[in-house]
Amino acid sequence: MRVLTGLQPSGDLHIGNFFGAIKPMIEAQDDSEMFMFIANYHAMTSSQKGEILKQNALKAAAAFLSLGIKPEKSIFWLQSDVKEVLELYWILSQFSPMGLLERAHSYKDKVAKGLPSSHGLFSYPVLMAADILLFDTQIVPVGKDQIQHVEIARDIAIKVNNEWGEIFTLPEARVNENVAVVPGTNGAKMSKSYQNTIDIFANEKLRKKQISSIVTDSTPLEEPKKWQECNIFQISKLFLDEEGQEELKKRYERGGEGYGHFKMYLNELVNAYFKEATESYENYLKEPKKLEEILEFGASKARKIARAKMQKIYEKIGL
Ligand code: ADP
Ligand code: TRP
Repeated sequence: MRVLTGLQPSGDLHIGNFFGAIKPMIEAQDDSEMFMFIANYHAMTSSQKGEILKQNALKAAAAFLSLGIKPEKSIFWLQSDVKEVLELYWILSQFSPMGLLERAHSYKDKVAKGLPSSHGLFSYPVLMAADILLFDTQIVPVGKDQIQHVEIARDIAIKVNNEWGEIFTLPEARVNENVAVVPGTNGAKMSKSYQNTIDIFANEKLRKKQISSIVTDSTPLEEPKKWQECNIFQISKLFLDEEGQEELKKRYERGGEGYGHFKMYLNELVNAYFKEATESYENYLKEPKKLEEILEFGASKARKIARAKMQKIYEKIGL
């Protein structure tokens, strides 16, 4: 099964991203053929500042590698290192009706939020279709907001296949319904847009600040507490096996400990869980050359596949 996913290099990753998207992706490496890339061409739709784009791409690469992407096993690259995707983007543009793109929620939402509308933003789904179709992708794991983009890729592929014969594999979106929504510090869905996150690679000070901002009720220290309704518990359980969860439930039910204690405990759990990844992340950031080498290693594998596909496409189109 060929699985492809584009990773946005946008800002700091939080534990909602980790349990909702990154962990399942890392685990899938063992039984699928995984293609993963940092979507830095797509990131240009929100910033055109070179230094920021470069830093964000390297930070994202460092983050995903230290959280468990295996560059020997999966193909992992920086989108702009495989330029064939832009060749295909232009070709697919001829098969992308305006009406199809005008219906894209993501474009409409971004413009409604005040992003200037540009051709780049408008044609974002065509570039995403090129990412997907260039590699004969079968499955695209996505969050709900991206399903429509995969459907657009599929529609474009059908149009091309009608014209040229079976040239593209039809991709399918896969939404992992089994992963629960991770709550943020205020109990709503954790999201960087709500500023209620606990970040994976936060320093000690920020981690403390984020965890201490978790909203609780005001049950006094000595009284028993309801773990069922407590945000600290809901987050802590992600880091605990069943036995650990049972012990923590008992501590709530026993009373005699305040929410401050439970926050301290969560702090320790998060630090321990991401300790190794954080060290590895910091090391990668100190050695950008090494990161670039790993990305180039992935790009060279991706480029080979992309070139062969483009060759076939050029033959069809007569260019
Ligand atoms: P944010 O809401 O912080 O902007 P993104 O939309 O960039 O996060 O999400 C990237 C990926 O992480 C998506 O696949 C999304 O489903 C997953 N994700 C984000 N927040 C959560 C959450 N609170 N719980 C579970 N998964 C999440
Ligand atoms: N648009 C995706 C997002 O915002 C990122 C992305 C770009 C992508 N190209 C892709 C995802 C191809 C899957 C497949 O998260």
